[in-house]
Amino acid sequence: MANRRNKTRLELTWIGKEDRPRLEPRILLEDPEKSYHASVRRPGDIFDNMLIHGDNLLALKALEIDFAGQIKCVFIDPPYNTGSAFEHYDDGIEHSLWLSLMRERLEILSRLLTADGSIWITIDDTESHYLKVVCDEVFGRTNFIANVVWEKTAGRKNDTYISTAHDHILAYAKDLSVWRKTRNLLPRSDSQLARYQNPDDDPRGPWIQGADSTAKSGSDSLLYEVELPSGRKVRPPKGNYWRFSKTSFDKALAEDRVYFGKNGDSLPIVKKYLSDVQDGLVPRTWWPSSEVNSNQGARRDHLRKLLPDIEPFATPKPEELIRRIVQINTNQGDIVLDSFAGSGTTGAVCHKLGRKWIMVELEDTCDTHILPRLTKVIDGDDHGGISGVKEVVWEEKLTPTKLKNMEPILEALNAAKEKAGGQFASFSTKVESNFLRLYGIIGPEKMPLGGGGFRYYQLAPSLLQKDDYDNWIINKDYNPAMLAEALCKIEGFKYDPSPETYWQQGRSTETDYIYITTQMMTADMLQKLSDEVGPDRSLLIMCKAFRSKREWANLTVKKIPKAVLSKCEWGQDDYSLEIKELPVIEDEPDDTEGNAQVEPKSSGKAKSKRRKAAAVAGGNLFDTDETEDGEDN
Ligand SMILES: C[S@@+](CC[C@H](N)C(=O)[O-])C[C@H]1O[C@@H](n2cnc3c(N)ncnc32)[C@H](O)[C@@H]1O
Repeated sequence: MANRRNKTRLELTWIGKEDRPRLEPRILLEDPEKSYHASVRRPGDIFDNMLIHGDNLLALKALEIDFAGQIKCVFIDPPYNTGSAFEHYDDGIEHSLWLSLMRERLEILSRLLTADGSIWITIDDTESHYLKVVCDEVFGRTNFIANVVWEKTAGRKNDTYISTAHDHILAYAKDLSVWRKTRNLLPRSDSQLARYQNPDDDPRGPWIQGADSTAKSGSDSLLYEVELPSGRKVRPPKGNYWRFSKTSFDKALAEDRVYFGKNGDSLPIVKKYLSDVQDGLVPRTWWPSSEVNSNQGARRDHLRKLLPDIEPFATPKPEELIRRIVQINTNQGDIVLDSFAGSGTTGAVCHKLGRKWIMVELEDTCDTHILPRLTKVIDGDDHGGISGVKEVVWEEKLTPTKLKNMEPILEALNAAKEKAGGQFASFSTKVESNFLRLYGIIGPEKMPLGGGGFRYYQLAPSLLQKDDYDNWIINKDYNPAMLAEALCKIEGFKYDPSPETYWQQGRSTETDYIYITTQMMTADMLQKLSDEVGPDRSLLIMCKAFRSKREWANLTVKKIPKAVLSKCEWGQDDYSLEIKELPVIEDEPDDTEGNAQVEPKSSGKAKSKRRKAAAVAGGNLFDTDETEDGEDN
């Protein structure tokens, strides 16, 4: 396909790549009964978060005009396309459909990102490598940040040929050169901080003593002699070199930054103070479950306890994982978007961390999982996930020798637990990076829990529907305000009705306005509007009909719905990623060039939804499109 279109760039092709949906920019309707706000307002609490129930392709299109260039971070966890609807999976149709559906969403997501924004996508091996190539196409290969590997389970399955332990997280910046200057370092974890110690009571504070003083490679200049405080003279062991030059060693010695062990007789260590190292850690691409938790940890330790009456998702993302993405990419008040919300982990984490959030979920889990979860977060009743803060109370490095007799270690652990007793709500013990650690869990009363709120939205039905004579008419469910907002979106205007000036319902620039009316406009009415608009402003009028052959320099007049009929596809409600009902090959495709083209057929679900939309009862803003006698300019 690529060479047929004489393209020279590298690209992935798939069946149906060229078939692009022409999306209708819908409006969002708030359902105040499902919106939720804390009863008290505290300074800094965020209330304008959005939970949208509906298909995310339409929802993203709906958000585009208001949020283009405003989303700091997108996190998505789409269905991985692991289920096969075909007995034989080789047809490539499922893969093709999945790629098409993802590409449409990624393109809008890219337009929503801020200049320093980024997108992070979890995916497994089924599609990750194909998705990478599509992402290269959408975001630009030069904007690839990393393929992070997340250890989604620390366990091992023995009933399989190889036990998958990780997911990929593909990360792209809107513009890598901007993102790299603004991304945050990771805060040091308690266990990392615990590695900085102060065995010699150095007044400059804790320092790290972990790094060896010698290296396996170096030059002859790194073989100089050092006199220890004990009087013993040493050189690096055979085949090793000092890690520091003579000059920097002498400087460190003069600054009293060299440690020679308790008795002053060990090989030197140049101290690295906690206060000197940069204010955080550069993120790595390997995210073990010991740092960011696992699927099972999220299910068992958090969601089951938070919502005991609801069966949790099979593979919810842990809050700790999302927290890391949010920490790297955003600051307080930034907007984070998750258009595959699932059980609402992203919103919950953002809410707890003081970020604004927008979530979209297609299924009823929006009501059964996300609503109760976020309600608990706002009420301050979620003490799990990232709300249960941990502190390292005690740790012991495990060596093969120590492991032979664990008794003294366990005694020390119990003694530490007893000593710290009253300070913590509970304890947990973990083996991490060769350390046995005792964590104290700080009780929820110490966390600034709760507050803020969100609004719950549904997508409005399609603006146009067919009448009994097969004419497109304005959907009978639309009132004048909805019509005005919808037409603003379709025409690319920001809906912003002026309380003072009736014809200023939206604007595209400071001086360009839109006025939508269900009236028929006469020449006199248009003249009056032209006078009010004046020579320095312009106005687009969208009306039922107009009667005049005259033209006004500051007015453009269009008839609705005729003017918008060809702008997009109407009445299409189902762009879902659930590949349950696959397209049917009706005729044998012409496969002479080896490229089977399959026309996707709309699903039964889509059709029934369309039928539902067409059957909406009630009065209409306009009766039909074609019976008016106005003239188009
Ligand atoms: C893997 S789950 C996300 C889990 C989530 N990260 C969590 O921690 O709970 C993917 C979600 O995407 C939703 N989804 C699939 N297609 C969608 C669409 N077209 N629009 C909106 N949501 C969709 C599914 O219903 C499912 O809940």
